[in-house]
Amino acid sequence: MAPKHLLIREQLLAEISTMRTDDALPQERDLAERFSVSRTTVRQALRSLAEDGLIYSIRGMGTFVSGGRISKGLKLTSFSEDMRGRNMEPSSRVLSATERIASDEVALNLELAPGSSIFEIERLRLADGMPMCRETIYLPAHMFPHLLNFDLGGSIYGLMAEQFRVRVEKATQRVSSQLASAADADLLGVARRAPTLVVSRQGVDGKGRLVEYAVSVYRGDRYDYSFTVQR
Ligand code: GLP
Repeated sequence: MAPKHLLIREQLLAEISTMRTDDALPQERDLAERFSVSRTTVRQALRSLAEDGLIYSIRGMGTFVSGGRISKGLKLTSFSEDMRGRNMEPSSRVLSATERIASDEVALNLELAPGSSIFEIERLRLADGMPMCRETIYLPAHMFPHLLNFDLGGSIYGLMAEQFRVRVEKATQRVSSQLASAADADLLGVARRAPTLVVSRQGVDGKGRLVEYAVSVYRGDRYDYSFTVQR
């Protein structure tokens, strides 16, 4: 059986989906009583929902339902995991998929020798049919033989793990802002020059190899980043 806090998370997730933004969740104490578990278990479930950006807490006030934004934290996740964790169905439209010689920028980010071959896959990523981001990923060709013969419409991380035994374990990310180009605005369903968040990721596997470089352009009205900083 799944751990208790995960079962409670599932139940709360179902409840949250029927609530409105900023509605208050029941008190920790009441939830513990209702589910017949300790407050620690309730807290664990709430923490996981907060990490996924579904709820937020105000000290001394309680816990509330977040707005329609996807709030990203410090956990390394794939797009598919992000969406499923929020009860949304991920899908993709493959815009292009090619094998080519890495540009200087891509070779640098993957630490490949000039002239190396890479796969470049550009996809529009959707959640419950709604466009969320346009993403271009670059993968070293020698690590993923015949990649283009596989279905690229699902989870690339799933494909990398299942077919090639490569798992992205760590990543360096950079987040910047950009005004949507005309092409991105059309794809993402936002106004031209609407704000977007551009996230670049250099993904490293368990052996310390750079296995992915990706540039994702997220809708600025649907995404934010939130994490704890410390002195
Ligand atoms: C996120 C990351 C990308 C990564 C993708 C994999 O969107 N920013 O760098 O390629 O997840 O997602 P999936 O496995 O759903 O294709």
